[in-house]
Amino acid sequence: MTSRTIALASDHGGFEMKEMLKKQLEAWGYGVLDLGTDGPASVDYPDYAEAMAAAIRAKVAESGVLVCGTGIGISIAANRHPDIRAALVHDAVTARLSREHNDANVVVFGGRVLGPEVAKDCLKVFLDTQFEGGRHAKRVAKMSIPLDQPESMSKFWKE
Ligand code: RB5
Repeated sequence: MTSRTIALASDHGGFEMKEMLKKQLEAWGYGVLDLGTDGPASVDYPDYAEAMAAAIRAKVAESGVLVCGTGIGISIAANRHPDIRAALVHDAVTARLSREHNDANVVVFGGRVLGPEVAKDCLKVFLDTQFEGGRHAKRVAKMSIPLDQPESMSKFWKE
């Protein structure tokens, strides 16, 4: 049993995989926070990325799982939120490196393009891997510049 709570959210394209991963997380002893969607009816993935961002920002979950059909739309949407580092992964290597190098706090899957066993494997690796820090910490910090202080990024576009 672990005290970690993992939030999950998907659109209709990721609904089936989200449900499967929710059961797997519960079987592993995690607390789960299901942010929807609740069925196969068509919905808009940015709304579920936003719900995930709110949960991470409020610290009601320490990590998250997002799923849409390809994983692309919901990861683009999630990464527009400054507290989110969402990584679209497709194997154990990308899942591991998303934690070691990028300190990703949300793992993203394409429910229509990734097999369930691969997704489970990726999720386990993602949750069990620590951020390496060191040379990666500065790079992650550069991605954490508050969006309401764009002047702090001026060196990147003024020269
Ligand atoms: C929904 O049909 C689909 O476009 C969505 O799940 C996702 O794949 C978008 O990137």
